Amino acid sequence: MAEVLTALRPTAGGRYVDGTLGGAGHAAAILAASAPTGWLYGCDQDGAALEATGVRLAEFAGRFEIRRRNFSELDEWIPAGSCDGVLLDLGVSSPQLDLAERGFSFQNDGPLDMRMDVRQPMTAAKLVNTAGAEELAKIFWEYGDECESRRFARAMVHDREQQPFTTTGQLAELIERLSPRRGRKAHPATRVFQALRVAVNDELGALDRGLTGALKILKPGGRLAVITFHSLEDRLVKIFGRNRARDYTFSGTDVPELRMPCVPELRIVNRKAMPPGPLELQENPRSRSAQLRVMEKV
Ligand SMILES: C[S@@+](CC[C@H](N)C(=O)[O-])C[C@H]1O[C@@H](n2cnc3c(N)ncnc32)[C@H](O)[C@@H]1O
Repeated sequence: MAEVLTALRPTAGGRYVDGTLGGAGHAAAILAASAPTGWLYGCDQDGAALEATGVRLAEFAGRFEIRRRNFSELDEWIPAGSCDGVLLDLGVSSPQLDLAERGFSFQNDGPLDMRMDVRQPMTAAKLVNTAGAEELAKIFWEYGDECESRRFARAMVHDREQQPFTTTGQLAELIERLSPRRGRKAHPATRVFQALRVAVNDELGALDRGLTGALKILKPGGRLAVITFHSLEDRLVKIFGRNRARDYTFSGTDVPELRMPCVPELRIVNRKAMPPGPLELQENPRSRSAQLRVMEKV
């Protein structure tokens, strides 16, 4: 929290965006720090999160506009060049993870769902029951770094012919059977569950579009803070920043003699991703794998 406020430097009269409202902890902190005239545009694709947000932000009435939207569309409703800071705190929220019926968890048995936005038609069950073994293996490998991706995918395709997958427990059980725990700390289904979540919610596609849109709605000098939870997201944010901070472009391979000069679009504020501070870790143990990157529009 403190790190985000240091990065975005909210002040009275400033305009800020929280593209991942969740329980609105960050949104409330930004509004408090920019009192009495700071403004917040906020969105979340999860209707349940927005209900919680409305309650949490009631004391700031008249100073924010919140919408149920994907952050990949920020530049469709927020004026270009109008904002001083944008926050994207990626991933799922604690209520999403903890509620069995949202289907994100292998610890609490629930429907195999994993949608952050329940209006979308694709669920984890649909994906697992209809995709080919090759496609599933690719998802587990690319989005979960799962070394046993092919074996797991083949077993799923085999098992679903007997009985389609409908619950998180069913899927976790299959993976545990194929890859017994043997004293390992992490559940063997961790990577498969992460991969399915990333695929079901098109998390990397949304992030890519969200970063581009965020840059459009920022004013020069405005800051973009992104908190990631796994290396795929962090790499995407790092490469986005590096490409936009360059004062040259190139096509294909970067050969110094063939570089074409251009004006950089942003400045990287912290070269290395920042881990959470001790206070954050104490208050929110789930933040242990979080990494914060901060950039500034030029
Ligand atoms: C880690 S939580 C955010 C917590 C929040 N910063 C707080 O202080 O409570 C992530 C939230 O982002 C939302 N989310 C994730 N990807 C999204 C996207 N592409 N568009 C809109 N909301 C998204 C999730 O639904 C979830 O509520």
